Amino acid sequence: MDAKVSALLNTQINKELYSAYLYLDMANFYQSKGLDGFSNWFEIQAQEERDHAMLMYKYLHNNGETVTLEAIDKPGLTYNDLMDPLTEALKHEKYVTSLIHTIYLAAKEADDFRTMQFLDWFVKEQGEEEQNASDNINKMTLFGSDARALYMLNQELAARVYSAPSLVL
Ligand code: FEO
Repeated sequence: MDAKVSALLNTQINKELYSAYLYLDMANFYQSKGLDGFSNWFEIQAQEERDHAMLMYKYLHNNGETVTLEAIDKPGLTYNDLMDPLTEALKHEKYVTSLIHTIYLAAKEADDFRTMQFLDWFVKEQGEEEQNASDNINKMTLFGSDARALYMLNQELAARVYSAPSLVL
């Protein structure tokens, strides 16, 4: 595998694990506010991020590459209100999308068609992740200021269940 592509995928494992940690921090924040549905939603999001890291880990190993695990940054964000994690989550997903696109571009420049095909799933997934993050912001904007509506929204988010990624290596 092209050395740059391999290095970027290695780094992305760390970024995905950081994403898991960041979303766990958001889940933790909502727990402290008594919003168990919001917390559930972010706990599942954290699980999905770990899945993303594991897919990259397995992909590198399947291709005979070396995986190097680095330290995971502290989440370090401060949330002042119930909306803050939702806006930070969208901002973070847009950042992750840009990282995936950078790896894709490196794979394209290296004529690494296998990695491009592997990343196709992530390109699509990022579209969905940004959409979900936007939906949460829109719902909170519409209903967040009404206690009964917020209760219903919390119940809706409590109904999210984990499902394993559709991409299998
Ligand atoms: Fe792994 Fe939310 O992107």
